Amino acid sequence: MPQYPQYRPRRLRRTAALRALVRETHLHPSQLVLPLFARSGSGVRRDIAAMPGVAQSSVDELLRDAERAARAGVGGVILFGIPDVKDASGSSAWDAHGPVQSALRALAREIPDLVRIADVCLCEYTDHGHCGVLRDGHVDNDATLPLLARSAVAFADAGADIVAPSDMMDGRVRTIREALDTAGHVDTAILSYAAKFASALYGPFREAAESTPQSGDRRGYQMDSANAAEAVREARLDIEEGADIVMVKPAGPYLDIVTSVKRDTGHPVAAYQVSGEFAMIKAAAERGWLDGDRAMMESLLGIRRAGADLIVTYFAVDAATRLRDGHAE
Ligand code: PBG
Ligand code: ZN
Repeated sequence: MPQYPQYRPRRLRRTAALRALVRETHLHPSQLVLPLFARSGSGVRRDIAAMPGVAQSSVDELLRDAERAARAGVGGVILFGIPDVKDASGSSAWDAHGPVQSALRALAREIPDLVRIADVCLCEYTDHGHCGVLRDGHVDNDATLPLLARSAVAFADAGADIVAPSDMMDGRVRTIREALDTAGHVDTAILSYAAKFASALYGPFREAAESTPQSGDRRGYQMDSANAAEAVREARLDIEEGADIVMVKPAGPYLDIVTSVKRDTGHPVAAYQVSGEFAMIKAAAERGWLDGDRAMMESLLGIRRAGADLIVTYFAVDAATRLRDGHAE
């Protein structure tokens, strides 16, 4: 390898054009997915305190956000639902007229080219706020599987291109795949939250989704933040069960996991830049402690550089707009 003074790495950093020529990682709006929170009614828009610019909205309002995203070139949306009624088994999750199902039908009709992803989990729909049904105070894995499958089929019936189980029950990808196929939805893809860590960074989301567990926490099913080998194992298991895309979540503090899941599986890998990651950047920017736009782009570029093919992020529209305005970073 040539050394200084023959080799001067700074030569290729001198101008923006030179830097663009040798840039290794590119961010494109089509790789970004925007999370949206659907609730019933019309003309409803409830802002989320810890997530500036993010709201729970009725389908008509949600369509406006989705249209803005589509115009900016954003690749897709992932939908979460806040149902009118919650019960012990989360039965609103498979209500054909639930907020997510209604939003999916409206999106399919109005903006068919925007990819429609439906998050599949019970925590927004259960009165206790856990991601599965409870038995003796514990989340019962096997009793939860058919309920998740039922919800996934209801979302596919309503027009989801992709269903995205985020519950972390064992065996749910296989159960969902079989149920989709049986219902004739052989082309509905599965994006599994394969390596979802028990994280403090979900705090703002739980306000947005009204899904805070009433007792205990999610450590009995979400992963221990310390475990990297287990994360790869989880991703492999989900692929064997039929996952088309595997996701790592959160993103920023888990970039090593993104890299190894991509390297070990070769499958499309998604990363979820979660609510707390978004809130941290927003809060610091509001205080003038950093440049919010640049911190946003740097965080997203880092996630891509680690190996993520697509990124779920609350910054999707802002980042896409910035990219379209010609800023590479
Ligand atoms: C739960 C779910 C969570 C998120 C998406 N689906 C978090 C949780 O375990 O409470 C988090 C997303 C975010 O923080 O942005 N199924
Ligand atoms: Zn959940």
